[in-house]
Amino acid sequence: MCGIVGYVGKEECADILVNALRRLEYRGYDSAGIAVFEGDRIKTVKAKGKIKPEKDDDKKSGLWNKLKEEGKPVGTCGIGHTRWATHGEPSDVNSHPIGNGRVSIVHNGIIENYREIKKFLMSHGYGFESETDTETVAKLLDYYYEGDPLEAIEKAVSDIEGAYALGIIFREHKNKIFAVRKESPLIVGVSDEANFIASDVTAILEHTRDYYLLEHNEIAEIRQDKVKFYDIHGNKIEKELQTATWDIEAAEKGGFEHFMLKEIHEQPDAIRKTVSPRVKNGMPSFEECGLTDERINGYDRIFIVGCGSAMHAGMVGKYVIEDLARVPVIVDIASEFRYRNPLITDKDLVVIISQSGETADTLAALKLSKEIGADTLAVVNVVGSSIAREAAMVMYTNAGPEISVCSTKAYAVQIAFMYLLAFRIAYAKGAVDEERCRQLTAELEGIPEKIQQCLENKEQYQYVASKIMSADSLLYIGRGLDYALSMEGSLKLKEISYIHSESYAAGELKHGTISLITEGMPVIAVATQRALFDKMASNVKEVKTRGASVVMVCHDSMNVESESVDHKVGLPTVSDLLMPMVTVVPLQMIAYYTAVQRGTNVDKPRNLAKSVTVE
Ligand code: F6R
Repeated sequence: MCGIVGYVGKEECADILVNALRRLEYRGYDSAGIAVFEGDRIKTVKAKGKIKPEKDDDKKSGLWNKLKEEGKPVGTCGIGHTRWATHGEPSDVNSHPIGNGRVSIVHNGIIENYREIKKFLMSHGYGFESETDTETVAKLLDYYYEGDPLEAIEKAVSDIEGAYALGIIFREHKNKIFAVRKESPLIVGVSDEANFIASDVTAILEHTRDYYLLEHNEIAEIRQDKVKFYDIHGNKIEKELQTATWDIEAAEKGGFEHFMLKEIHEQPDAIRKTVSPRVKNGMPSFEECGLTDERINGYDRIFIVGCGSAMHAGMVGKYVIEDLARVPVIVDIASEFRYRNPLITDKDLVVIISQSGETADTLAALKLSKEIGADTLAVVNVVGSSIAREAAMVMYTNAGPEISVCSTKAYAVQIAFMYLLAFRIAYAKGAVDEERCRQLTAELEGIPEKIQQCLENKEQYQYVASKIMSADSLLYIGRGLDYALSMEGSLKLKEISYIHSESYAAGELKHGTISLITEGMPVIAVATQRALFDKMASNVKEVKTRGASVVMVCHDSMNVESESVDHKVGLPTVSDLLMPMVTVVPLQMIAYYTAVQRGTNVDKPRNLAKSVTVE
C-alpha cells in the first residue's frame, strides 16, 4: 500500500526521492509525488499513475514525465509518496504530498474522524481541494502551527483517530523533516551523509542499513547532521539503532526477468536460513522465543490466523500438526476471525502468520487474541513490524525482502516453519519420540536440495503454462495436504495471470462443482499423497470423462494412466508429509510462466498491494 520516503542531506534530492519511491513500488500504488524545499518555498510535483509509465499506461503519464514537464525541484531536503487510493480516486490532486505552502505532508493509513476535523476546519475558514482524509491532517497541522512544529504535531495528533505514518515539512523550518506514526510503520534511516524517513528499509538500502524504528506516537525531527526523538509530550527520548541484515542485492532482480522468478529461486536458501537457526543438536528448538515444552503442554488447541498465502501456510500447518501432534488446530482467515467473536481461551495458542507483519486484519486478530487472554506467537518476515512487536512471542522467517506482490519464498518459509513447529509440539506432547522427531527434522533440512531439483524443470512448467494460458477458468484439485497446497496454487495463478481458478477438495467435486467441467477445461490435480492416490486417480477419471484436460502433479515414480492424464509433472520423492515443500515449486512456476505468456504485469498485478495495511 502507500509508501513514504524522505531525504535530508547534501545532494540534490529529487532523483534520490524518486529512486527510493521506485523501490517501494512493489507495495502497490496508483499515484506518486514529491515535495522539496526550493529556495524559500516548498515545490511539489505529483501525478496519477505509475512513476514511469509501463506497458499499458499512457506514455505521457506519471511522476517521471511530470518532473520533465515542470522541472525537478532543486533542493537537498524533501518528502515523497506512493499513494494507493482509499479516500478519493487516484488523481493528481488527491496524490501526496498534500499541503498549503506552509505545511506539506505525506501520509500512510486512514484517518477515521476526518469528516469531523474537516467540518471544524471549514468553520475556521479552511478550504479543501482534494477528497482525501490526508488533507484534513495537513490543514489541522497548519491550524495549530504557531512557530513550533513539535507543538503543532502534538496537538494535531491528539485530535486525530485512526492509523497514520506522517512525514511533515514546514516551510519555515527549512531542511528539516518531522515524522510521527501510529499503527502504520515508519523508520528513520541514518548515515554520515544524509538522513531519511521511509515506510520500509528497502527504500533506503542503497544509502544505509542503519535505522531507528519509530514507535507509536513518537516524533522524529530529522536534519542532515542529526536526528532527535521525542515522546508525544515533547520530551526527548533515546532510541536503539537497528541494522538491517538485508543488503541492496536482495532488493534487486539480480539478472532474473522478474522479482517473482528470482524469489522462487531463492527458496532453497531462504528455507535453510529459516530452518537452521531453529535446529539445536538435531532437534527443533524454540527456546529463543520462549516457546518451551512446558508452555506447549499448557495449550489445549492451536489457532492459526492469517490472510491469503499466509492463511494457506496455516492450512498446511493444520494438517501436519494435527497428524503428528494430535492437537486440534483451527485455521482462520484474519478478517473473519476478528469479527466472529472467536471461541478462544487462555489455554489456546494463536499463531499469527504474516510476511509483512503489517496486514491490518491480521494485526487486529492478534490484538483480539491478546485481549481474550490467549498466548500468541507471530511468524513474521519483516523484522520490527507491528505484528512482530505486538505478539507475546515472535519467530522471524528469514526469507529476506520479498518484492514481488505475489508471495512465493515467504510462503515456502512459512510452511517450513509450520513443520518445525509441528515436530516440536508433537515431541513436547509425547506424540512422537525423539528419534522420529530427529528423523523428520533431518528430512526437512534436506528439502532445499529437493527444491533445487524442481527448479531445474523449467521447460516442463513452460509447457503446462502454454496449455492453460488460453483457458477462461480452471480447477485445482487435491486431497489432504494436496488440497491445502492446491489453494495456494490456485491463488498464485489467478493473482498474476488473471485466469479464474478455484481449488477444490477432490472428494467435493461431485457435490456441485463437477458441473463446471466442459470440453478442454484444464484441471490441475495435485496427487502427492500416496495413501490417497487411488482416490485421486478416481477423481481424475471423473473429470477426464467429462472432457477436462488434466495435468497431474505427483511423485516422479508414480505410474499414471495416459488415458486419464494429459500431462504429468513429476516431483522428487520425499515423505508424503513433507511433499508440500517441493510441490509448491511447480505450482508457482506454472503460475509464473502462464502470466509471462499472457503478458501481465507479473511483479505488480493489477489492483493488488504487497502490504495490506487497511481493512
Ligand atoms: C498472495 C499474497 C497475499 C498475502 C496476504 C497476506 O500472493 O501475497 O495473499 O499472503 O496479503 O500478507 P502478509 O503475509 O504480509 O500478512
